[in-house]
Amino acid sequence: MTDRDFLKTFSGLLAALVALTVIIFVVAQMVSGAGKVKTSKADNTQIAERIKPVGEVVMAGAAAVANGVIPTANAADKGESTYNASCAACHAAGVAGAPKIGDKAAWAPRIAQGNDTLHNHALKGFQGKKGMMPAKGGNMSLADADVKAAVDHMVNKSK
Ligand code: HEC
Repeated sequence: MTDRDFLKTFSGLLAALVALTVIIFVVAQMVSGAGKVKTSKADNTQIAERIKPVGEVVMAGAAAVANGVIPTANAADKGESTYNASCAACHAAGVAGAPKIGDKAAWAPRIAQGNDTLHNHALKGFQGKKGMMPAKGGNMSLADADVKAAVDHMVNKSK
């Protein structure tokens, strides 16, 4: 084979390979639909929505309550649950001179003092004739609002 023949065959082969490459490229474009894909802002948010993690960690707190992740107990429920957890020990049965919840006679003169006094005595503690009411029922971790709600709960049940 002469050099000339070789060059002829070789450049023919090269041309065929180039043509094949172009054909493969065009076919690949057609199959993948490349060039048609336009990502708009809306697509991106849809993609973000599709690939987002399944769960999220939510820290308990005002923000979580505001987002409705943690339901806010209404004041009445809060009063009852606080009462059950921190006040019932003494006030359910009238332990150590505590006015029993629902005992109208025992509560009437106390209720007559007004809500502010009752709230204050529950929050700060109070030494009466019957006994000693510890500040916040001895549970200093209670929020003031919850203690007040518990007082209101007891008062409502004792009128
Ligand atoms: C360790 C027992 C004990 C616990 C727990 C307790 N109390 Fe009392 N509480 C008393 C006693 C005793 C009195 C009555 C004091 C007196 O009049 O001599 C009293 C009285 C009260 C009064 C009447 C105050 C007044 O001015 O007449 C309120 C209101 C009250 N408690 C609220 C609460 C609330 C709210 C809780 C829970 C957060 C609570 N108590 C938990 C013992 C307790």
